Formats: sequence, structure tokens, C-alpha cells
Amino acid sequence: MLPKTLEWKDDRLHILDQTELPYRVEFIQCRNYQDVAEAIRKMKVRGAPAIGVAAAFGLYLGIANSQEKSYDEFLMEFTRAERELSQTRPTARNLFWALERMRNVVEKTRSRSIKMLKELLLKEAKAILKEDQDLCQKIGENGAALIEDGDKILTHCNAGSLATAGIGTALGVIYTAKGEGKKVRVYADETRPALQGARLTVWELTQGGVDVTLICDSVAGLLMRKKMIDLVLVGADRIAANGDFANKIGTYNLAVLAKAHGIPFYVAAPYSTIDHSLKSGEDIQIEEREKDEVTHLSGQRIAPNGVKVYNPVFDVTPHQYVDRIITDQGLFKPSAKGKNFLDRGE
Ligand code: MRU
Repeated sequence: MLPKTLEWKDDRLHILDQTELPYRVEFIQCRNYQDVAEAIRKMKVRGAPAIGVAAAFGLYLGIANSQEKSYDEFLMEFTRAERELSQTRPTARNLFWALERMRNVVEKTRSRSIKMLKELLLKEAKAILKEDQDLCQKIGENGAALIEDGDKILTHCNAGSLATAGIGTALGVIYTAKGEGKKVRVYADETRPALQGARLTVWELTQGGVDVTLICDSVAGLLMRKKMIDLVLVGADRIAANGDFANKIGTYNLAVLAKAHGIPFYVAAPYSTIDHSLKSGEDIQIEEREKDEVTHLSGQRIAPNGVKVYNPVFDVTPHQYVDRIITDQGLFKPSAKGKNFLDRGE
């Protein structure tokens, strides 16, 4: 059985340290909001839904020991933790969605005592975790309908149980299809530069008894041309109202390749990953990370000292390349005209 990615226990958030995988299964204990912010920033916990759940508990930890007596002072403490957590990673919609849910609790319950507010905030963080588990199951069920016995599936990055509090989004679909008795084979991109595919997806699918083959990112085109891929299935970090979406760098390449080869391209994500305030993917903020991620592998330099590096860690795939968006609230088909894809117009 897979270890829990996130667990609230003994007044602490226990996080499976994903930077140690696949070598070691180790947990870190976050006692305050700074610990949680650091874990998100350093990608000890990663994947949009898991980041959201961690941030919710981080925000609770930010006020758990508050000695403030007045609501306004309490709110200042809350806002300090909220600000730091919101500055950890910019692209994952679920981070901001979870923080907004926690803020709603504080704003709606102004008249309550500070003790009561703390209790309500912990309750909300626990609800966000539980909901994530439930909605992963629903995504799995909704998406499994698109998978046929014998399918060969290409996935990118890690959108599995390690990226959520539940069975995962894209990988949740695969686990569910397998549970229904469908034999599937998965090809997992290694996913440069942080190697979530090689280190995490391959590890997790192997533990889950799924037939998985690791490939270099650049192998996808060859596999498609040889008709060795039936569908592409990935997660999402943020989906705009027209169905454009951001996901791990390299996802766009796969979408274009899939279109060129007539292969279905599916995105699996919680409904909460949709950012209704963005008309298109143009406005999605793309995180750039340190150049060491590209110049080094396992701490070993692989490029000349001083080389210029560009390291955007997400890209945006236009909705025209997406066949279905699989959510906990059903399947959506982005409209060819790019209108709000949630219309379910076709
Ligand atoms: O940088 P990461 O590892 O947080 O990126 C993760 C992804 O791109 C996932 O595909 C996405 O968050 C969906 S996870 C269910």
C-alpha cells in the first residue's frame, strides 16, 4: 500500500518527503506555517491538489498558537501566514483555492470567539483533505469510462496519489480502470528537470501493480508514430475558463504530437483547478525555478559552469488540443470556438 502523502496527526502536518523518493520513504513533520511553506517551495510536497491541502493546514498552523484576543489582531496573524503560503508556488490553482476557502471561514465567522475560529479553521482544512480523497475517486470513475481494455497510455509528470490526498487524478483514472479489470500499459515520461515521472510516477505505479515503462521525454513522438500509444492522460495545475490549461513543462509538446497522430488527449483534474477568472491560458502565471535544476543531476554538475539557463516548469496547452477534461463533476469538452467550456454545449 502507498504511504500517505499528507496526514494530520498529533497537531502536526506529516508530509511524505518527495525529494527523497524513490530512495527513501521519509516523512517530515510541519509544526508551523513556515515549515509548510518551505516544504511546498522545496517540492517536498508537490502536485496541485496536494499543495492546496498542505497550504490549508499550513494556514491553520499559522494561527493555532495565536494568543491574540481581538479579531483584528488574529486576522493580522492569519494574513501573515496566508501571504507567505501564497508566495510559495504561483501556478497551482488549488493552492489559492484552498487559501480562499480558509479566508472565507475567517470572514464569515467574525462574531465568533478566537477559540471557535481556530476550531473552524482546523475543521475546514480537514474537510479540504477529505474532499480531495473523495473527488479523486469520482475523477477515477468518470475517467475510467474513456479507457478500454488493452489501452497503452502515455502520462507526464506525476498526477497520482503522490500529488493528492487521494488516489490521484490522471493516475486515479488508471487505478480505477485497472480495478474494473481493464488491462492497461503505461508509458511514463521521465519529466525533466525534476524527474517526477522517473522518481515518482514509476515508483507509485509499480507499488500499485500497474504495468509501467519509463521513457525519456523525447521518446514520445517515436512511440506515437509506431502506434504504441492509444491515448495521452495528464493532470493540470490550472485550467482557464476556455479549457486552456497549465501543466508540467513538456505537456504542450505531447498535446501537439497527439493531435498530429490522431491520438486522444485527456486532462484529469478536480473541478477546483478551474480558474473561472481567467478567460484563457494567456494569463496563467508560469513558475520559473532555479537554474541548478537544469545544470545538475542528483547534485552532480552536467553543464558548463556559468551557462545561461531558462527553466520554466509549466507550459500552457491551448484547448484546441484537448479532447476531454475529466473532473469530479463529469467530463467536459472544450469548445472549438474557445467559449466557456463549462457550458457542456456539445
Ligand atoms: O511541479 P509539480 O511536481 O508540482 O508539478 C505537478 C504537475 O504538473 C501535475 O501534473 C499537476 O499538478 C497535477 S497533480 C494531480
